[in-house]
Amino acid sequence: MTALRLGLFGRGRLGSAIAAEAGAALIWQAGRGDRPTAPVDVAVDASAAEAVEAHLAWALDTGTDLVIGATGWTMPELESRVGGRIGVLAASNFSLTVALMARLSTVIGRFAALDPARDPYLLEHHHHLKADAPSGTAKTLAAALMAGCPRKTEWTLGTPAPHQLSVGVVRAGAEFGTHAVGLDAPAEVLELTHRARSRVPFAQGALAAARWLHGRKGVFTMDDVAADLLVPLFTFGGKP
Ligand SMILES: NC(=O)c1ccc[n+]([C@@H]2O[C@H](COP(=O)([O-])OP(=O)(O)OC[C@H]3O[C@@H](n4cnc5c(N)ncnc54)[C@H](OP(=O)(O)O)[C@@H]3O)[C@@H](O)[C@H]2O)c1
Repeated sequence: MTALRLGLFGRGRLGSAIAAEAGAALIWQAGRGDRPTAPVDVAVDASAAEAVEAHLAWALDTGTDLVIGATGWTMPELESRVGGRIGVLAASNFSLTVALMARLSTVIGRFAALDPARDPYLLEHHHHLKADAPSGTAKTLAAALMAGCPRKTEWTLGTPAPHQLSVGVVRAGAEFGTHAVGLDAPAEVLELTHRARSRVPFAQGALAAARWLHGRKGVFTMDDVAADLLVPLFTFGGKP
């Protein structure tokens, strides 16, 4: 099997972690204002929300598969723009453990849906330089949780109305990223927490996503990468 040729947009914290993990597979790494210097199989966008549009246009022009790790952007027309032309994978969090947490969040949401006294919530903490709030991961986990709990239809950072999921954000210090999905009931509390100790899980997940994406057409998420791995974990003694 020929090795994947990788391009990388972004020379910041995430870009540096991915470059270190990619080794010889990395053909170029482009900072702000740089242009890609050679064709690659897959490019990873580890830059910033405002640069995603230009990087997607480049990927479509050059027929290069694109893994987007930058957060804080929305593009409702992404599916129609990509069509079947290239593969695009957008991931607010490259960690496979967080992909597992997203699935568990839906289960927690379903459990909350059984009893209105079970009140779900979400907390996140990142370093003080992080640009967007709540984090893209928090939005992904909130969506997964609400997918299981139909009485919650949107999230809020303020005092929640009954249909809103309460989300709490901390921006302080050097935290790589902590997310907790919780369930507060009158007599008990469940809290599921993920804490990244470094950017290594993001870098390894980005490379796993690039390998998985190459050759596929359409728009995908980290849940698609993780599905093969995770689905067998949700059966118990042969039972679902
Ligand atoms: N998916 C995941 O698992 C994951 C994990 C961590 C972070 N993230 C996200 O990844 C992104 C990068 O995070 P980071 O911590 O690496 O940030 P960072 O350290 O600030 O690095 C951002 C990089 O993007 C470049 N950049 C900024 N604006 C640009 C523009 N308009 N055009 C081209 N390049 C631009 C910066 O160049 P300059 O230095 O010239 O400004 C820098 O090289 C953020 O959106 C963050 O939320 C995702």
